[in-house]
Amino acid sequence: MGRVYNFSAGPSMLPEEVLQRASQEMLDHEGSGQSVMEMSHRSKQFAKIIEDAERLVRQNMAIPDSYEVLFLQGGASLQFTMIPMNFLTGSKKADITLTGAWAQKAYEEINRLGTAVVQGSSKDKKFSYLPPIQGVSPDADFFHITYNNTIEGTQYHTLPDTGTVPLVADISSGILSEPLDIGRFALAYAGAQKNLGPAGVTLVIVRKDFLAKAPDARDLPPMLSYKLMAEHKSLYNTPPCYAIYILKLVQEWILQIGGVEALYKANRQKAELLYGYLDSSEFFYSPVNKADRSLMNIPFITRIEDAEKAEEINKLFVKEAEQVGLVNLAGHRSVGGMRASIYNAMPLAGVEKLVSFMKDFEKKHK
Ligand SMILES: Cc1ncc(COP(=O)(O)O)c(C=O)c1O
Repeated sequence: MGRVYNFSAGPSMLPEEVLQRASQEMLDHEGSGQSVMEMSHRSKQFAKIIEDAERLVRQNMAIPDSYEVLFLQGGASLQFTMIPMNFLTGSKKADITLTGAWAQKAYEEINRLGTAVVQGSSKDKKFSYLPPIQGVSPDADFFHITYNNTIEGTQYHTLPDTGTVPLVADISSGILSEPLDIGRFALAYAGAQKNLGPAGVTLVIVRKDFLAKAPDARDLPPMLSYKLMAEHKSLYNTPPCYAIYILKLVQEWILQIGGVEALYKANRQKAELLYGYLDSSEFFYSPVNKADRSLMNIPFITRIEDAEKAEEINKLFVKEAEQVGLVNLAGHRSVGGMRASIYNAMPLAGVEKLVSFMKDFEKKHK
């Protein structure tokens, strides 16, 4: 089988050029006579890979020198725990917006170690919109948002103004999809398996003056201390070397194609094509509030009212799509229907093929 168009929410497609390069270098990375997978993380070769990865991420995201860039493990999920552990150091209270299933997890972890104050929730309408911010607790240790809600398909197009309260964001599924002013965040984090590379590495960008508020490295379990990880330049223990290497190749690819502005342009074009069709269709529609629609994750459902029949049609859609090389289009179980995740590495041709398939499916079933 040829390569498919993979619409998974993550792990997801990687740029073909990156996979080609990795395959060329699989047995012998730059004349070292070894694969990156076999390299000591203390070797000169790997030191260059991790330094290049950091330099290129800084360049592509315009990250100021006042921030640390860390490559950690444990996925974005561990960040839900590490953030309260390291930063509930004052009032032990943090504000949060409840905008989806991942935000809910972040909320639960804050509550485990302190108090989470909900400053807006869209739970009443299955998280299909972004709620207005109700306020900011002046003494909150931080304010957490999920910048892009992968499951529900909403995205902050304007970041909330939290005044002097540090803004912390889960940017897992929106990172590098459009220009983002990192200066607005005290801390931003992302699991790699969407726009950065393979699963296994988590990128954390943290402002140094915010990091200074975290407990001393020796007062936390070492693997859970940002300060320790920053002191050791993410090399306290063996990092996920190969995932960091692929992340570096992805950064090189981004530079080569024109940086984040070029990605943003291509992403808009892909999203407009799919939303445009959804808005004109008599069969499918987007359940998400228009102003809050995500650029990366696009859920869609049919207008069929009978739940059993709708479920049957959804299954048929996913199955027939797979047969023509459009895979992983099933919606998340909490939302139902279908979902197309169109991350940076999804070519326009993939979305064109999907829309054309949807049009044919509509003709047959409406
Ligand atoms: C927005 C968001 N946050 C957190 C997570 C959890 O990430 P991980 O599986 O890397 O822990 C995901 C995973 O899809 C996500 O989309």
